[in-house]
Amino acid sequence: MERIVLTDQKKEDVRQAADIVDVVSDYVKLKKSGSNFTGLCPFHNEKTPSFNVTPRLGIYKCFGCDAGGDVFNFIMEMEGVNFIEAVKTLADRYNISLPTKEADDRFTEQNRLIEGIYHALSFAGVFYHRTLAEDDDAKEARHYFKNRGLNTETLKKYGLGYAPGGFDTFYKHATENGINEEYLVEAGLIKYSDRDQRPFDVFRERIMFPIFNPAGKVIAFGGRTMEKGKNPKYINSPQTKVYNKSEAMYGIHLARHDIRRKDGVILVEGYMDVISLYQHGIKNAVATSGTSITTQQMQLISRYSKNLLMVYDADQAGQNAMIRGLETALTQGLNVRLMHLPEGEDPDSFVKQFGAESFHSYVQDESRDFISFLIESAEKSGAWNDPMSRKEEISRVLGFIASVDDEIMRQTLVGHLSKLSGIGDRALFNELDVRLMEKKEEKQRDLERARRQREREQAPDVSAGQRPAGEPQLSGVKRQPVSRPKKRPAYEQELIRLMLAYEDDMVYYVGNNAHEEEFEDEDLRRFYQDLKKRYQHEEKISPEVYTRMDHPFPQIVSEVLIEKHTVSERGNELRELIIRKDADPYATARGALKTLKIAFFKRNLEEISNRISEGGISDEERREAYSDLMETRKQLSEIEKTPADYLFPGIDEIESEEEETG
Ligand code: CTP
Ligand code: MN
Repeated sequence: MERIVLTDQKKEDVRQAADIVDVVSDYVKLKKSGSNFTGLCPFHNEKTPSFNVTPRLGIYKCFGCDAGGDVFNFIMEMEGVNFIEAVKTLADRYNISLPTKEADDRFTEQNRLIEGIYHALSFAGVFYHRTLAEDDDAKEARHYFKNRGLNTETLKKYGLGYAPGGFDTFYKHATENGINEEYLVEAGLIKYSDRDQRPFDVFRERIMFPIFNPAGKVIAFGGRTMEKGKNPKYINSPQTKVYNKSEAMYGIHLARHDIRRKDGVILVEGYMDVISLYQHGIKNAVATSGTSITTQQMQLISRYSKNLLMVYDADQAGQNAMIRGLETALTQGLNVRLMHLPEGEDPDSFVKQFGAESFHSYVQDESRDFISFLIESAEKSGAWNDPMSRKEEISRVLGFIASVDDEIMRQTLVGHLSKLSGIGDRALFNELDVRLMEKKEEKQRDLERARRQREREQAPDVSAGQRPAGEPQLSGVKRQPVSRPKKRPAYEQELIRLMLAYEDDMVYYVGNNAHEEEFEDEDLRRFYQDLKKRYQHEEKISPEVYTRMDHPFPQIVSEVLIEKHTVSERGNELRELIIRKDADPYATARGALKTLKIAFFKRNLEEISNRISEGGISDEERREAYSDLMETRKQLSEIEKTPADYLFPGIDEIESEEEETG
């Protein structure tokens, strides 16, 4: 077993890479709601979503069962693992290596190789990019990019480059710089010639498109020739230990935030389409990298948004590929729209000629739901006019509808088809049933095949301590959470909330009026102590500071900061409430302080009377206890009957007092 050495920096690296929405989306279908996301809580059974994710703070919170915390808490609860294991799970997934001690040999071996491959790829990326920028041999390449309208900023953003000519220019440069040959080969950058086994560069005299994973690491390259008509037009990296073609999506590392923000993704065919759109400000486009659309790619996309617009090249090949991908997208539950560009155009050429505005309005006017799209295509080709082929077209459309999992959606779609085709619902539903049966059988066969495959893969031993590579992240079984956060006193939470929301001034104010021993909840007390300490040391105070700290801080931030009414559908009414409530945050604080003191005195009373009733104390001790009891009672009733505004001076009063005295 490996032992992990976990530094703060490493933890931060993992937290940075493991986007909370991304991680949670593996288990929960999230829907955007303002700047938050909501979904059905994975920790308890519910029919209406009360589970919230706040990406800005990297935290989640359920109002139904009070589960909450940061990305590590989520994995801990979800997978029933401890903190270290949670960090490790996420590190594995986001390709962040954690230094290990006395590691299991095989694990380190694998790990070393993967790190080596990443290093070689990143080295190559820098080399190609530099070559493009600086090398005399790259003049033509620079010219090429310029001709295609890309500016320097875009070249940088996408790390575009040039692989020089020669047999082994890159190989020599890399090995001279200490890159292990093994890594170069395993990264797919170098091959051995058949004739004399000499190593040579896979990419030569090509402009280079690095392909990144969602976390922004180079995992592969696509190299395009600049010669018209030269074959092959593109050379792409082979499948490697870090590059799975059927999972990769070109451009996802830059597009994912915009995909979420706009709640929509544009799927295009080519690298250049993605880049060109981006340069024109359309930043939510991605492409497959030279493959047809796969299930894994659609799953990846649907983590970010369910709304997919496919815009492939306006040639026959492009249109065919788009229709082939349609079924996969529908099966994965995406809402698909399709668009046909003017003849001969692709998204790159379109946006270059006409600009982003035109692209948007073209989408507005010309994109279609898939049924309308298919029927319009059939009309164009003439197939719609011939009764026999029209029937075939309709049954083709029904085949696509059958891919949709959601029954209500299917009914809606059949209604739509009925309207467009003039065929009655009944006939359509009958045919749909046949199609559904076929699909079901197909699915059964696929499942069976997948099961056998898994069995084969699991049969050989899996190295200890390493998560089986093939294990799906998505588990259908709802796991029991390991620990349910306890109910904490609301007024204590409220004070922490106010201090986080109003930062330094409020920390100063509350700090002046409360004592740490008055906090009953240990975690909240620690939080309070830390806030005060930070204030005294003039360190930064903000929610973000605490979401980056260790358990339980992020969890508490989520508990106190994400409030039900901030994300409620009936927003307005409740938002008003919260604004009114916080109209004078200091007044709110005084209310909470008063409750805090009362609770504190009541706890003291209870403690004293316990001391008395338990017995076993001397007479003198008893007398003392009684006098404590009287005193505490007096203080308590004093506090109870005094309005909070009198109990605690206003912030201005404190400040002016200070000025006078100091
Ligand atoms: N592709 C590939 N191998 C090829 C041709 C194409 O992998 N031999 C992939 C590339 O990912 C390419 C995409 O398919 O980006 C679309 O192909 P194509 O339209 O031919 O290329 P574009 O990228 O549009 O190139 P350009 O606009 O420069 O002609
Ligand atoms: Mn193209």
